[in-house]
Amino acid sequence: MKIGIDKIGFFTSDLYVDMRELAQQRQEDPAKYLIGIGQKKMAVIRPTQDVVTLAANAVDQILSEADRQKLGLVIFGTESGVDNSKSTAAYLAGLLKLPEKLQVVEVKQACYGATAGLDFAQGYLCLHPEKKVLVIGADIARYGLRTPGEPTQGGGAVAMLVTTNPRIIAFEPNSAVAMRDANDFWRPLGESEARVAGKFSNNLYLDLLQEVWQEYQKTAGLQLIDFTAFIFHLPYTKLGLKGLRSLTSGNDLAINSQLFKQFEAARSYNSQVGNLYTGSLYLSFLSLLQNSPKLQAGQRIGFYSYGSGAQAEFFSGLLQPKFKEQIARNDFKQILTGRRKISVADYESLYQQQVIQTTEHKLRTTEDLAKYVFAGTHESQRTYEIH
Ligand code: CAA
Repeated sequence: MKIGIDKIGFFTSDLYVDMRELAQQRQEDPAKYLIGIGQKKMAVIRPTQDVVTLAANAVDQILSEADRQKLGLVIFGTESGVDNSKSTAAYLAGLLKLPEKLQVVEVKQACYGATAGLDFAQGYLCLHPEKKVLVIGADIARYGLRTPGEPTQGGGAVAMLVTTNPRIIAFEPNSAVAMRDANDFWRPLGESEARVAGKFSNNLYLDLLQEVWQEYQKTAGLQLIDFTAFIFHLPYTKLGLKGLRSLTSGNDLAINSQLFKQFEAARSYNSQVGNLYTGSLYLSFLSLLQNSPKLQAGQRIGFYSYGSGAQAEFFSGLLQPKFKEQIARNDFKQILTGRRKISVADYESLYQQQVIQTTEHKLRTTEDLAKYVFAGTHESQRTYEIH
């Protein structure tokens, strides 16, 4: 039985800051951000968006009435949760008015959450092949103003409808996993910015990539030549480039050149949005599909998922005959080109307003043109609006 992704939706803020301008303000050479880190633009999330609304705006693009009727499970991968108890999936189901004969759950393991969601969805669909599962990866990446992590912030949501007989990609049975109990990146309770040991996190990402790739090749009996493209969790796009260099080192130059071309397609959207944490790998997948016109059905894509703390997984999938039609349904390039650039000062001001508040507050939502918006907190409960 084939199981995989049938539809993908994506949403991010309508505002961004230009990385060249941010570098100038931080007295850095713009080439450090543009080339050294590999980011061109960074999404700036409005205070009227949280992970629930980002996800709702992403799901809204893909979910038909027929999909709603068959939905059995919603898995929300996030590390930017809005409640210590109630899951973001329950908030999301309420906001989208999903049918109530449904299971909802939030999954957390840093940037790995959505991948765990895809794995769990596959198990669920083996038991309930007639059902559909919604897997979300949504986050707001925050390290703090004027920190080394600042140019690797961003935010947004990717929503994936996982089904049997999927039209975009069918996952293959083999995958390889590795974990470490490591403090490379974490966020203490009550804090809204991540703590990070930057160089350690980069090294662990690359070490675990090698570990799971070697293991995957053994168990799957496949090697580099069997892949059309590799996509990576992209906290910033240069790290994925380093990952690809480590996989291809010492290999045939002609094969390598194709893989690096595909990587450029796969990093295009991420370089314009920044880190989505859980959604980053899947935004890169979307970027590959929409920016690499020569891809063909039947070709194999390799996925490297990494969540600090740390969990890594390498898995693969085969593109399905209708993937081009499915991907052409939404013009994500337009979402990105239609955004508005704001100044560094405006970004800083919005950044400071984007904190979890539990006290009574009402936000002005009229400036946010998204369909689903966060409106503030009333009697310690979060309130949402549909525009
Ligand atoms: N022109 C071109 N390149 C330049 C340059 C210039 N003028 N100046 C510097 N560079 C290059 C550097 O050589 C370096 O490249 P290499 O890594 O290839 O050597 C790159 O720009 C970055 O420079 P630094 O290492 O000096 O940058 P930094 O110390 O300011 O911090 C960072 C970089 C560690 C990535 C930091 O932004 C950070 O901590 N980010 C958050 C952590 C992170 O994303 N970790 C990734 C793994 S963890 C994960 O994957 C989970 C997750 O989503 C967070």
